[in-house]
Amino acid sequence: MLSDNKKIASGVPSYFPLEGRTIILGVSGGIAAYKAAGYARELGRLGARIIPVMTRNAENFITPLTFAALTGEKVHTRTFDMEDAHEIPHISLAREADLMLFMPATANIIAKAAAGIADDLLSTLYLAYSGPAVFCPAMNPVMYQHFATRNNLDILRKRGHMVADAEQGDTACGERGPGRLASWEHIRETVIRSLTLQNLQGMKVLVTAGPTRERVDPVRFVSNRSSGRMGYAVAAEAWRRGACVTLVTGPCSISPPKGVRTILVESAADMARAVQSEAETADIVIMAAAVADYTPESVQETKIKKSSEQLVLVLKRTHDILAGLLQNRRQGQVIVGFCAETGNLKERALEKIRKKPVDLLVANDVSEPGSGFDVETNRVLLLDRDHNVQRLPLLAKEEVAVRIVDRVSALLD
Ligand SMILES: Cc1cc2nc3c(=O)[nH]c(=O)nc-3n(C[C@H](O)[C@H](O)[C@H](O)COP(=O)(O)O)c2cc1C
Repeated sequence: MLSDNKKIASGVPSYFPLEGRTIILGVSGGIAAYKAAGYARELGRLGARIIPVMTRNAENFITPLTFAALTGEKVHTRTFDMEDAHEIPHISLAREADLMLFMPATANIIAKAAAGIADDLLSTLYLAYSGPAVFCPAMNPVMYQHFATRNNLDILRKRGHMVADAEQGDTACGERGPGRLASWEHIRETVIRSLTLQNLQGMKVLVTAGPTRERVDPVRFVSNRSSGRMGYAVAAEAWRRGACVTLVTGPCSISPPKGVRTILVESAADMARAVQSEAETADIVIMAAAVADYTPESVQETKIKKSSEQLVLVLKRTHDILAGLLQNRRQGQVIVGFCAETGNLKERALEKIRKKPVDLLVANDVSEPGSGFDVETNRVLLLDRDHNVQRLPLLAKEEVAVRIVDRVSALLD
């Protein structure tokens, strides 16, 4: 377990989604083995213990020493290890693992796992293990698209394993096409998802995030400082739990989370339209966006010239999306609202939940250090239907997202 000191490095709480997990990293003989070394280190930074197991062919591409140095663990390479003759490696390692991660996975190891062939340590270990597994194929595009490889990957998927599909691009062999090892973000999310309780499987979750932009003229707009981080973290967490997630987002500079269907919108009116249509089929709606309350009454068709000393902008109220959702709420639909305040947080949050009876209200004081807009952390209050208030400490936004999704999941029980 990580100590609290490590979790709050330099005063900023971090999030370790793989804390306490042991991952057997199976490295097979492909060019992308060198990328796996860097990714192994990143997985360790997320809190996991990584135990590398390399095939003999992998040793032609990278030395065990590299993995030993990056993970701080002994690298296992042989089924018959005379140094540890009292232990049978494939049995003892299989018992320790929470996950087997094949990265990179050659066409050969994929075929052996699909067929149940056990002729070296890694493939024997796979047969002696019964937990979740993730395969990250990387190979020449013709090998990847070969019927045998596609068929073998389908067998592994049907067995319940996850596959971080290879990506398009230039491969080491000089050909273009699908076959490159998936990106770090793709592999990270697949690993985390494979180790997360799938308690939102089959659920449709709609999340809104980010600011909106209200046009003044062709070059100017009125907006706010929302970065979208909180909503994106909630969308990512819902996907990790197996939900089918749609993210309706205003303009943000961060990338949308993996696996999430993203609808980009600009103004509060665009967001209202997208939410109305998506909410019709959503089981859970989480409204984390900072939607403009006011928008210019009219948009100038040409750029407003610098002339008079003062310029008065007339604004009108935008449509209240949350109020509309509550009015048209489907039977059993869970609705989560957010409120951003600057002072008197508890009183204002209670006032809001009385007016808008959401199932859960997430309230934060955006004037507090480390909270709210454009930072990686947040300190929130959670208010439920009965107006009970839970105060969470300052946490990484990913961890706040876990707490919010925990509360939402409990409402479905
Ligand atoms: C230079 C070179 C690069 C290779 N790159 C890959 C690769 O990226 N993916 C793959 O599936 N096989 C690749 N191979 C073929 C595998 O190394 C070969 O199929 C081997 O038997 C895999 O053994 P393993 O799965 O036990 O590690 C490559 C072979 C060579 C000589």
